[in-house]
This record gives sequence, C-alpha cells and structure tokens, in this order.
Amino acid sequence: MTLRIRFLCEQDSGPDRDLSTDASAGETVAQVAYRAGVLIQQTCGGSPSCADCRVIVKEGGAEAFEPMEMAEKSLLGNVFFITKERLACQAVVKKSTTVWVPNPKRIKDKRKK
Ligand code: FES
Repeated sequence: MTLRIRFLCEQDSGPDRDLSTDASAGETVAQVAYRAGVLIQQTCGGSPSCADCRVIVKEGGAEAFEPMEMAEKSLLGNVFFITKERLACQAVVKKSTTVWVPNPKRIKDKRKK
C-alpha cells in the first residue's frame, strides 16, 4: 500500500519547505526522508541513542505509526500525546502523515551550548 508523507522542513529563514513523497508501510520516516532528499539530523545513525532525529507529527496522530518500541520510549518518554514527537529513525509508517522536521543547524547549535 502506498502512503504519502508530507515533510514540513524548518529553514534558516522564511517559511518551512513543504515536500510530499510516497512511502510504503513498514518504512521508517528517516528512510522515506533520505529517499526524498529531506535532511534529518541522525548523529547516532539510528542505534537509537541521540534523539537528534526528532520530528513532530502534525497530521495523522499516533495511529499513523507502529507503536513505539522501548528504546524510543526511553529517549522520548511516554508523552507523545503532549509533545507529538517521534524519532524519525524508529517511527515506522503505517498511514499517511505530515511531520515537521527541525532545521539540523539548530540541533547542532543546541549541542554546542
Ligand atoms: S538517529 Fe539517533 S536516535 Fe534516531
């Protein structure tokens, strides 16, 4: 089944870059983003341990993804209903969704502090 993922990518300035692409059920958000040319910071390479690949789910809710595994819960907590955050490297897509992707530069700047 083909799904659509819409990426709203934060830019250095100006409006978010808006890009939609096809995805297959069972792919992670990071896999789809890579194929679409969307840059998501992935410091640990998906081990998962860095939590730098956070995206915010704007449409589709928790139902758009397979449930969180323990490794993701340990990094994000069990508060999706508040934060709407998922780890792109762990979030396995099962329905069409829209995610907001923070600017990787902002994540690097945050790490320097
Ligand atoms: S890439 Fe590090 S937790 Fe996803």
